[in-house]
Amino acid sequence: MILVTGATGNLGRAAIDQLLTKVEPSEIVAFVRDEGKAGSLKEKGVQIRIGDFDDIRSLEQALEGVDRVLLVSSTAHGKLFQQHKNVIDTAKKANIKQLVYTGTAVKDEANSTLKAMLEAHFQTEEYLRNSSVPYTILRNTMYTDTLPLFAGEKVFDTGIILPAGDGQIPFALRREMGEAAANVLVQTGHENRTYVLTGSELYSFKEVAQLMSEVSGKNVTYISSDPKAHEEMLLSFGIPEFGIATITGFITDMREGRYTILSDDFEVLLGRKPLSLKEGLQEVFAI
Ligand SMILES: NC(=O)c1ccc[n+]([C@@H]2O[C@H](COP(=O)([O-])OP(=O)(O)OC[C@H]3O[C@@H](n4cnc5c(N)ncnc54)[C@H](OP(=O)(O)O)[C@@H]3O)[C@@H](O)[C@H]2O)c1
Repeated sequence: MILVTGATGNLGRAAIDQLLTKVEPSEIVAFVRDEGKAGSLKEKGVQIRIGDFDDIRSLEQALEGVDRVLLVSSTAHGKLFQQHKNVIDTAKKANIKQLVYTGTAVKDEANSTLKAMLEAHFQTEEYLRNSSVPYTILRNTMYTDTLPLFAGEKVFDTGIILPAGDGQIPFALRREMGEAAANVLVQTGHENRTYVLTGSELYSFKEVAQLMSEVSGKNVTYISSDPKAHEEMLLSFGIPEFGIATITGFITDMREGRYTILSDDFEVLLGRKPLSLKEGLQEVFAI
């Protein structure tokens, strides 16, 4: 049996959708905090187990009879490492055959304003590698799916106004990241390996805007705005300070090249080239 955490979130759900094409629904266990959000999974025959990364007893119960685990990284900033450690420790006690962890494909994390969160991913990787639990680490790049959040839902009218400079990012679709995760869970030979999942090409936001123009037939421009002015704009939207710090942290990391990493691991795990950014944009913006 394969347990997927974050099953009511985006990546966990994407992985389950792919697993459903490869194994029986009864072999999939969705670890969820809120049963009310798991109705469609239950309808498909997926087992639902309720719990929380903070509640070790719930993790122990959830892992009963489970062979493999997909640990989708938590969103509880400040508690990431402790929560991931709870899952790894419980997996060790349960003699889990493979724990797949989704981390992040970023470099120079020590100089990021998001250092605490990014370092928690690498701390988790190190703890997992030393845990004796057979592992697979997937370092995921920035999702194409985040572009509407950064660029704004009305981007085709407003253009992209973002302090991202000429930073280059190998965007990849979250759906395909879920597919790669499902593949490493059902195939053999991925134990004790670390894969860096990036799109096949790097794109600056100027190139993102050009592709958006091509797919929409509209003239989508890109202005690399002033970081301070951008922060003030987010404040004027009523976004809480923590949210602003997170958004601007990601944008700064993109501008300063922390996501400028290319690898062909994603293609290897998918068994084909990942979709191009142009195709990804068409899917994400439904155009
Ligand atoms: N690479 C990128 O571009 C990128 C972009 C966005 C996010 N991420 C990170 O990648 C991960 C997955 O992304 P996503 O889009 O799938 O995020 P998401 O939709 O927010 O999913 C996160 C999942 O974690 C679950 N969760 C949070 N705290 C938990 C806890 N204490 N116990 C049990 N489950 C808990 C959530 O449960 P509920 O459903 O109950 O809330 C949710 O299902 C997240 O860590 C996210 O921060 C990466």
